[in-house]
Amino acid sequence: MRVAVIGTGPMAQGLCSLATRSGATSGNVEMRMCSRRAEKGSETFLEGLPLTPISSMRETLEWSEIVVLAVQASQIPAIVAEHGHLLVTRVVLDITNPSRADIDAIAAAARDPSPSPATSSSPGTTVIAVDCDRRPRDSAGSAYGGFPTAPAPALVVDRRPPDSAVDSAYGGFPAAPAPAPEAAEAAAKPAKLGLSSSQTSWVGSTASASASAAHALSALLSHAAEGSPVRVVKALNNVSAYALIHSDPLVDDIKTVAASDDANAAKLVRTLLEAMGVDCRVVPSLSYAVRMEGWHRGTFAEWQMPCWVMFVSLVLMWVFSAVRYNHYDHVPWYQATMWITNKALGWAGLWGLLYCYLPGMATTYAQLFRRTPTVRLWRWVQRWMEARKQLGLLSLLFVMLHLALSTYLWMPSYYTKLWQPTDVLGLGVGPAGKLDKYGMAPAASLPKQAIKLPASASAADATANATAAATAAGNLIARSAAAVSIRRRLNWQGEASMLVGILAGFSMLLTGLTSLPHITHRLNWGEWVLAQSWLGWFSFCAATAHTLILGITWWPTAATAWPAMIPTITLLSTAPCVIVIAGKLLLMSPPVAFALARIRAGVWGKASQLHAIYVSRHRSWCAQP
Ligand SMILES: NC(=O)c1ccc[n+]([C@@H]2O[C@H](COP(=O)([O-])OP(=O)(O)OC[C@H]3O[C@@H](n4cnc5c(N)ncnc54)[C@H](OP(=O)(O)O)[C@@H]3O)[C@@H](O)[C@H]2O)c1
Repeated sequence: MRVAVIGTGPMAQGLCSLATRSGATSGNVEMRMCSRRAEKGSETFLEGLPLTPISSMRETLEWSEIVVLAVQASQIPAIVAEHGHLLVTRVVLDITNPSRADIDAIAAAARDPSPSPATSSSPGTTVIAVDCDRRPRDSAGSAYGGFPTAPAPALVVDRRPPDSAVDSAYGGFPAAPAPAPEAAEAAAKPAKLGLSSSQTSWVGSTASASASAAHALSALLSHAAEGSPVRVVKALNNVSAYALIHSDPLVDDIKTVAASDDANAAKLVRTLLEAMGVDCRVVPSLSYAVRMEGWHRGTFAEWQMPCWVMFVSLVLMWVFSAVRYNHYDHVPWYQATMWITNKALGWAGLWGLLYCYLPGMATTYAQLFRRTPTVRLWRWVQRWMEARKQLGLLSLLFVMLHLALSTYLWMPSYYTKLWQPTDVLGLGVGPAGKLDKYGMAPAASLPKQAIKLPASASAADATANATAAATAAGNLIARSAAAVSIRRRLNWQGEASMLVGILAGFSMLLTGLTSLPHITHRLNWGEWVLAQSWLGWFSFCAATAHTLILGITWWPTAATAWPAMIPTITLLSTAPCVIVIAGKLLLMSPPVAFALARIRAGVWGKASQLHAIYVSRHRSWCAQP
């Protein structure tokens, strides 16, 4: 298999290096790079890649069977204009990640192609595009915790055990989202391949030239081939040059997709890539290139909405806390930096968990009241369900920051009500006979007398009592300012709230860790339910208890202690959480849980509409031209 790689950049180097390291070049794979800078007839080598010769474009392309376009997509029109007549007879592997402008430029060139030097001499070009999706299963629609990047399931039926249903944090299954029938129909075809309705433009074999760079390239080459079929394959655009250069073909797992309208061309590319140790799946349609290239253009698509929600929540909570404490309660404004921020982080972290559990629970109640296992959800609720993993992880981040800041602020002067007053010590020093000639007493030479005072004594009382006691003993108080020391211990509120707070933080951490794809994929169903549902609920309850214990003694003091009658943060933040937890407890109560299990099993209530909807989706899929 003779492979010409156009370009000498990182991707070209990575491919050639991988071919050598994997042993592919010891078999039937021959690799050459082509560079504009190589002189005709000469053969040079790139430093570090002595086994891959670099020669001029024309002679390398003439020699090759497969051509890899390891160039920027913007260079494609120029390359096709010059070498199109050679490309049309070869399998063209497009690994580019084009911008929208690149695609438009190639499509424009395809509409108005400049004549190729030897168009007529090279009919029958095939263009192949290969695309590698390296996203973890978790984010691409995994078996357990993940959600598709832009999923559009027309109907999801909750088959989980009743006690764990619809309530997992960090990316549990959507409970039972079922959009309107027309949405289901529209989503049916892409859903079959795990795509969202926003990514459906690739569906169908008649995608326009501007759908993707691979399509535009295919159209451009078709001109050069004078209408003969071209063999373009899209692949590898999901794999980084770093992975190609540094991975170990023996142990590392590089995955990609080879998409092409020409099945044989795609299979040829798969054979090549598999010889190099790359796990390659063939998709028999170049239309899939739309998704492959679109994936590259998106930036943290599934994180954007959850990040906004959590960020806006944090800002609103910070503003509320600053107004309540700094403005109305006259706390110094400089404390808005850390003390107030810490309150807002804790509040936002707690409500992040609330955001995770609320939609699932609401859906379960909808199942219960409608007595059907399939519930139609509004689109925004469905998106909310899909974002639970990200919301859970962001809430974990906030809680960890809250723990770190609280550690710094953890002192009686900040959290006075969590510490119990203990005995106050006064310190008397003397005697007068030890004074020096200036009437001063060297501190080190003075005996010290500790005077124990009642717990209720203030610092001023301690000083006065120490002075009196020392004077009575014939001593001289030389430095009364140093005569007071106060020691305190946590009271029951402090101990209990810290315990459950730390338990909440670390159990959240465990739940978050089990959402990592490498761990998720090793969990069986029961383990996943334990980590994502039960442990997650435990974190939520513990975090609520932490906040509740912190503030509950202040709630009855509204009339006197609440500035401008604004409720405390602990009251505002825990009230909705307590309601959700009570709702969950009700669902777990034996009669309700029994009823829910029967509804989900289809024994009681209305039968599931799943079969009818599934059949209609299948029909509409088949009916597509
Ligand atoms: N870098 C990545 O991690 C990565 C990952 C996935 C996909 N990709 C895609 O892979 C492609 C190559 O990436 P790269 O990082 O290797 O790019 P690069 O560093 O820009 O290298 C491109 C190479 O193309 C050659 N070239 C430029 N214009 C040319 C022209 N008109 N005719 C012939 N050759 C030309 C140049 O080699 P000479 O000067 O020697 O001719 C240059 O070294 C890009 O489309 C990129 O989107 C990159």
